[in-house]
Amino acid sequence: MGIEDKLAYPGQQPSPIRELLKHRVEISFGGGYPPPECFPVERITQLRAEIEPEYLQYGATEPLPEFNERLRKYLEREIGIRAEPDEISVGSGSQAILATLAATLISPGQTIVVDAPTYLGALGAFRTQRPKFITIPMTETGPDLDVLRQALTQNNVQFYYTVPNFGNPTGVTHDLKTREEIVGLAQKTGTLIVEDDPYGLLRYQGKPLPTLHELSPDHTAYIGTASKTIAPDMRTAWLVAPLALVDAYNTQAGAIQLYTSQVNQLVTARFLDSPDHFRKHIEKLRTTYGERLNTMLRAFEEMFPTGVTWTKPEGGMFIWISGLPTDIQSILNQAVTENVVFVPGTGFYANEPVSGTARFNFSNAKPEVITEGVRRIARILEPYY
Ligand SMILES: Cc1ncc(COP(=O)(O)O)c(C=O)c1O
Repeated sequence: MGIEDKLAYPGQQPSPIRELLKHRVEISFGGGYPPPECFPVERITQLRAEIEPEYLQYGATEPLPEFNERLRKYLEREIGIRAEPDEISVGSGSQAILATLAATLISPGQTIVVDAPTYLGALGAFRTQRPKFITIPMTETGPDLDVLRQALTQNNVQFYYTVPNFGNPTGVTHDLKTREEIVGLAQKTGTLIVEDDPYGLLRYQGKPLPTLHELSPDHTAYIGTASKTIAPDMRTAWLVAPLALVDAYNTQAGAIQLYTSQVNQLVTARFLDSPDHFRKHIEKLRTTYGERLNTMLRAFEEMFPTGVTWTKPEGGMFIWISGLPTDIQSILNQAVTENVVFVPGTGFYANEPVSGTARFNFSNAKPEVITEGVRRIARILEPYY
């Protein structure tokens, strides 16, 4: 029996990021990893120790009542989102929520709209349902609104997926006018927006902007996660959406995820709902990551050849680089021999990729390591310019 003949997706490639992370290199600008020295280890250990053993049992697919109640307080206090208890659900990380939403909302051949570039994990989750993609080029202030308008008015789309705050991979933030236009278009065309917001609180400059959910709750499925503000291994994320979608999501989540770890739900909820402690922790992340962002931007400015350009994010974990040599794989291969990795841009495009692009993560390495890593890559680039 040829297993190849049985595969649902023959030839499906693994995520280039997950492949890259298998390289044990000295300096990684690869994954969207929080630095381990910023994990709130003591607090997590203390909260875990307080959890009653009954929560080791199987749980319901719907969030625990305590999770729901505490999360609602957090969302109102920190994010500006008000939601009814039954407009909230939970999942084992935002990746699981994205995959479950894909199973809830896409039948093979249906059309969805995504930015170009966009988060490649979301593309992987959506592709399991074999959609057609319409892509919207990204500008410095968010998606190109003319192209988005055309996409939403001329097609019957299942949803528009976007990351408005310090997007992965570009680091770009949708400005207020763009946000208002997006929700205006969603209202006019009856489009559902899937708003993925893992980085919203990681702002190092400028003022917070309202979420798309806050601007138009009836048209938005908002996803938040504990991964970037507590720790990825919490594997706990939340969905805030209109009731009918939350109901349908819960049905699919029961089939796909069964339920989300109750211990992790409680640790997450108690962590988020301790305002003084939480704010102190976020301040520490902002200071640490903000310094690393500035270090990387300065290093690019000083060392990268003329012709290479990059975004200047106000927060998050990533900088997007353009104008690199078209054979980016060869640059990466050379970087690996120099013990540095970054992610080539190709995988972040649902359709035609733009060549000579790459994503650099700045949160994981210490400032002096960032400078050294950029120096090594700048040396590799030199002969190409
Ligand atoms: C935009 C975006 N969505 C979702 C995820 C996945 O996060 P989680 O750990 O919650 O599954 C990431 C992780 O990098 C991300 O950047």
